[in-house]
Amino acid sequence: MSAIRWGILSTGNMARQFVEDFQYSQGGILKAVCSRQQKDAESFAGEFGLEYAYSSLDNMLEKGQVDIVYIASPHSHHYDAAMTAIRAGIPVLCEKPMTLTLQETEALYEAADKAGVFLMEALWSRFNPAIAEAVDMVRQGRIGEVKSVQANFGFAADVPDSHRLLNPALGGGALLDVGIYPLFLSLLMLGDVKKVQSRVETGATGVDLYEDIWLEHEEGRTSSLTASIDRYLPNTAVISGSKGYIEFPSHWFAARSLRYYREGEEAEWYSFDFPGNGWHFEATHVNECLLSGQTKSPVYTPEDSIRLAATVDCLLAQWKS
Ligand SMILES: NC(=O)c1ccc[n+]([C@@H]2O[C@H](COP(=O)([O-])OP(=O)(O)OC[C@H]3O[C@@H](n4cnc5c(N)ncnc54)[C@H](OP(=O)(O)O)[C@@H]3O)[C@@H](O)[C@H]2O)c1
Repeated sequence: MSAIRWGILSTGNMARQFVEDFQYSQGGILKAVCSRQQKDAESFAGEFGLEYAYSSLDNMLEKGQVDIVYIASPHSHHYDAAMTAIRAGIPVLCEKPMTLTLQETEALYEAADKAGVFLMEALWSRFNPAIAEAVDMVRQGRIGEVKSVQANFGFAADVPDSHRLLNPALGGGALLDVGIYPLFLSLLMLGDVKKVQSRVETGATGVDLYEDIWLEHEEGRTSSLTASIDRYLPNTAVISGSKGYIEFPSHWFAARSLRYYREGEEAEWYSFDFPGNGWHFEATHVNECLLSGQTKSPVYTPEDSIRLAATVDCLLAQWKS
C-alpha cells in the first residue's frame, strides 16, 4: 500500500476542517465522501477534488475504494457508522466523542479487536506538538511530581434548539462536545479517576450547558475542569507539579505554545509552528499505523478512549439522578 485512501462520512463543519487540513498530512489521499444527500456528497467531492461521492455508507465501503473511513457525523450517529465499517473490515477514525455511552464505546473496540480492524477516537489534541511536548516534560520529571490539572473549554453557542449542540437526540450538551477535552487532559496527565464530583447547569432542551467537574485521581492528585456551551471561558490549561508547572494559553487543545516554569528559573515559552489547525497530525499518525499494519494506535489507545467514556458515563449518570 503506498498511500492510505480515505473516505469521509458527512459533509458538516468538522468534515470540512479535517479535509482542509488533510493537505498537510502525510501517507494518505482523500478518495471518497458520503453524505445523506447525493448532491451534497457530489458538491463536497467537487470542492475538495475527491474522486467518488456516495449517499450510502455501505456503498462507499463495499467498492474497494477506501482503506479507512473518517466519521464526522453527529455523536449520536457514530456508533452505527463505526460498527458498519468495522463489520466491513474497514478501519475507522471516529470523531470525538466515540459514542454516547461507555457500553457503545466498549462494544466498538471489542468488535474492532475481534475483527483485527483499526479503530481510533479522533482525539486530535493528543497529536498536537505542544501537548506532546508537555507529555514528554511530565514523563521526564521536569515539573517534578504531577499533582493537579486545571483546564476549561467553553464558548457561547448561538444555535437553534434543533442543532446538534442543544438537541438531546443528537447527543447535545457541553460535556460530550467540549467537556471531553479537559477530561482528556486530566486523564492523560493524572491517570485513573477514583472519585468524580460535579455541578451542572441544564438548559431548556434538557442538555448540560455548563459544568464544573472535580476529579480525584490516585495518590491525592486532583483535577478542576470546566466546560460550557452557554458562556465564554478562557480555554486555558495548567498542569502543576511539585517542581514547576506547564501552562497553555488560550485554545490549549490546539496549542501553538506553552509556558514552562521550574522553581528557581525564569519561566520559558516554547513555540510550535504548523500550518492549518493541526488536524493533520492525527491523520498522519493514522496513516503511519495503517501502513505499518497496526490495528491499534499506540498513542491514543483504546484504553484511553474507554477511560474517557467511563468518566463521561459517570458524570451523565450523576446528572440524571
Ligand atoms: N475534533 C474536533 O475538533 C471537532 C470539532 C467539531 C466537531 N467535532 C465532532 O465532529 C462531529 C460533527 O460535528 P460538526 O460540528 O461537523 O457537526 P455539523 O456541522 O452539524 O455536521 C454534522 C454532519 O453530520 C451529518 N448528519 C447525519 N445525520 C444528521 C442529523 N440527523 N442531523 C444533522 N446532521 C446529520 C450531516 O452531513 P450530511 O448532510 O453530509 O449527511 C451534517 O452536516 C461531532 O461528533 C463533533 O463532536 C470535532
